[in-house]
Amino acid sequence: MSVTEAPAPPTHSGAEPEHEGGLPAASLVDGVRFVVGGLLPTLVRGLFSPRRRATRWLTAVNADRRAVRMMSGIRRKHGGQGVRLLGGRMAVVWGPDAIREVLDRSADVYASDSGAKGKGMSHFQPDALTLSRGEEWRDRRAFTESVLATQERLHPFAARFVTVAADEVGRLRSDGALDWPRWERMFDHLTLRVVFGDRARDDHELTELLEKLMGEANRIVGLSDSDDYHELHAMLERHLVDPEPGSLVARFAAAPQTDRTRVVHQIPHWIFATRDTLGANAYRALAAIVADPAVERRVRDELDGADLADPSAVDALRYLEGCLEEAMRLWPTTPLLARETTRETTLAGERLGEGTQVMILNPFNHRDAERVPDADRLVAERWADGRRDYRFNHLSNGTQDCPGGPLVLLLGKAVIARVLERHALELEHPQLTAGEPLPHMLDFFRIRFRTEARR
Ligand code: HEM
Repeated sequence: MSVTEAPAPPTHSGAEPEHEGGLPAASLVDGVRFVVGGLLPTLVRGLFSPRRRATRWLTAVNADRRAVRMMSGIRRKHGGQGVRLLGGRMAVVWGPDAIREVLDRSADVYASDSGAKGKGMSHFQPDALTLSRGEEWRDRRAFTESVLATQERLHPFAARFVTVAADEVGRLRSDGALDWPRWERMFDHLTLRVVFGDRARDDHELTELLEKLMGEANRIVGLSDSDDYHELHAMLERHLVDPEPGSLVARFAAAPQTDRTRVVHQIPHWIFATRDTLGANAYRALAAIVADPAVERRVRDELDGADLADPSAVDALRYLEGCLEEAMRLWPTTPLLARETTRETTLAGERLGEGTQVMILNPFNHRDAERVPDADRLVAERWADGRRDYRFNHLSNGTQDCPGGPLVLLLGKAVIARVLERHALELEHPQLTAGEPLPHMLDFFRIRFRTEARR
């Protein structure tokens, strides 16, 4: 995606800290508070496959709100672009300039292939783009961008993709209720059809196997080579033999690749990111829209007369797009961007040794009420100018930003628009009061709607 720079963020309303720059060293107590309140919840929730019971519990204790308070306290004490913790072994950054420094040098000076993410993800996709750096990363990124058409707002197969979205929404079993299992199943079909084509629609064995491996990867320690891994990769290879026209795998032949691209290893990420990550985000966006009659009215006004079979018309749904972006900002499905320095470097003017862990905690940066206007409200217009803002990293920014971004917006909008077209919806759970600040956590497993066919 093209990266245009956002203007400097508004400064917060209270007194400025003593030093806007730099990464002051924080105390051991602050280090422990960050590990317990910032890192631990992301591990408990499940780094790769969200755990249902843990999500429920974290929502009940409002873990993200606690994290925002904890981080605000640390920043108030130290100021700066972030702080160094645990004797300089770790840094957590919140200043947009420091975040930009990290993300613009990602996969080079700042690698995302180490730590818990590297260990866990290697269980199901050891040679994935997101676990690559340097030359290998450039090679795999070029391949991925070509298949996903990252630089285009509309994918060359966009017309087919919006048809698939319409068809799957049309088949959504709805007897007056819409819940997560039905929604997840719909995204399962949709993902298989987008990635492999219509004939793979019912290949749930593949997605279930991937889900199983991702669930195991949540453990991070004690992972061993398994038959499931080899079985999954054999299944993926079979889908490459005779690629169905109009699917993502049909674009492989024309995409730049070498023998270190490891094309099969790139597919699992696309599957879980479409099925699970986009599924959860689109479902939350639908809840946030339906919960507020004023927002729903504006979305429906925009849909009025739009030809949803035309991908350009779906692309033009900018208010709905703002709603989806806001849902992703408000409840980021990637709460933590973790990097490790590959060599000695400077960040915010401070020296960082090789192997320093650098953390960007999205729930704090996205809900930072001292710096983000209306941080706890859905303000779709925030995204109207299409500019990047390095404080908001639900799709990340910089070199290693999400190459699926345009596909996320197209598919997400196409699905939500079709659901609203076909159904009148009422949010049954949880209770969200229109006009009130939105909660810090929205457990997508438990979102439920009452529905009625519109025609
Ligand atoms: C709402 C849905 C999605 C969200 C919120 C999302 C978010 C993200 C984020 C935050 C990153 C950066 C992760 C990090 O650096 O640790 C990322 C990377 C990535 N995403 Fe997405 N993503 C979504 C959907 C997709 C889709 C649909 C695809 C492909 C079909 C995709 C493919 C990728 C890949 C391959 C990377 C690694 C990029 C690299 O390392 O250069 N994502 N995504």
